[in-house]
Amino acid sequence: MRAVRQHAYDAALVVEDAPAPNVAAGETLVTLAYGSVNPLDAWIALGSVGAAGPLPRTPGCEGVGVTADGRRVAFRGAGLGLTRDGSWAEQVAVPDVALAEIPQGCSDQAAAALGIPGVTALDCLNLAEVGSGSTVLVLGASGGVSVIAMQLARTRGARVIAQTSSPDRVGLISRYADEVVVATAEALEAAVRELAPSGVDAVIDPLAGPFAAAAARLLAANGSLVLYGASAGSEFCFGPQDLYRKNARILGYSGLPVAPEATARSQEALFALVAAGALEVVIADVLPLTDANEALRRIRENRAGGKLLLQP
Ligand SMILES: NC(=O)c1ccc[n+]([C@@H]2O[C@H](COP(=O)([O-])OP(=O)(O)OC[C@H]3O[C@@H](n4cnc5c(N)ncnc54)[C@H](OP(=O)(O)O)[C@@H]3O)[C@@H](O)[C@H]2O)c1
Repeated sequence: MRAVRQHAYDAALVVEDAPAPNVAAGETLVTLAYGSVNPLDAWIALGSVGAAGPLPRTPGCEGVGVTADGRRVAFRGAGLGLTRDGSWAEQVAVPDVALAEIPQGCSDQAAAALGIPGVTALDCLNLAEVGSGSTVLVLGASGGVSVIAMQLARTRGARVIAQTSSPDRVGLISRYADEVVVATAEALEAAVRELAPSGVDAVIDPLAGPFAAAAARLLAANGSLVLYGASAGSEFCFGPQDLYRKNARILGYSGLPVAPEATARSQEALFALVAAGALEVVIADVLPLTDANEALRRIRENRAGGKLLLQP
């Protein structure tokens, strides 16, 4: 079968014939419909995510497809694309615990876009205890996680303020946010204060760096800053009084340690929202498996413009 293969870190991926997957007890063979592309795949390809498995390996931490008995399923986690062969191939052996059922009314493409981004958005909003009446600042708002986080926050009755660095993406973001600010890290605090003078209850932050410093200052009393990425820098600096005077907190989130069973149930909850018309999924592009390197380049250069999928 054809598969994308990684032979070395920080080197181009190749598409070649690879052996059909060995399906062990407790695993299911899935014929791939779409492999999802995430920033995590870009980090893994560079070798910057620890505990990766042996090479050569098939990349791709998640995807959707069909089982031999005709079930439409999504899958992610359980080491796929990291410690074992992943989704960017015609067929994938998937641990049963990582399988999520896709209901009628949720397309394969939507399901493929709701694994890592959807569950991350859901878990981060839960960590920040976003609910009715909360004001939430979503950073990097055109990103895959952010687009879902904004929608889920609004379904909970929250007010969403969105930050973007990309003026050309304001139209898309405005569909999901109450207010949009186009702001650099330096301009963020003033721009958000104009809209929310007493600050925000939660910040959902994939950027870190100078954006997180401004976000910490913007927290209202009992506010939460949830960090789940570092796209704009791995360090930031703020005064401790920005937290302790407000009983505010900074929390971190990573999906990697979350149990695959929990992730699969979260995915099914998100698929049900799509089927009910309560959640829109934006697919930026569907590329053939042979364009896997191009997909990773778009992510590294912040040119993805939303969710990218690979099709065998
Ligand atoms: N911890 C976890 O479990 C977890 C899960 C998923 C993702 N992540 C991480 O979270 C981040 C976002 O993931 P994603 O899938 O949403 O990525 P994405 O679709 O590539 O979106 C990231 C968004 O952040 C903004 N951005 C990117 N680089 C920037 C920079 N240097 N300065 C300012 N803004 C920048 C852009 O938004 P605008 O153009 O609108 O400004 C971009 O659309 C990534 O770093 C990813 O590795 C972590």
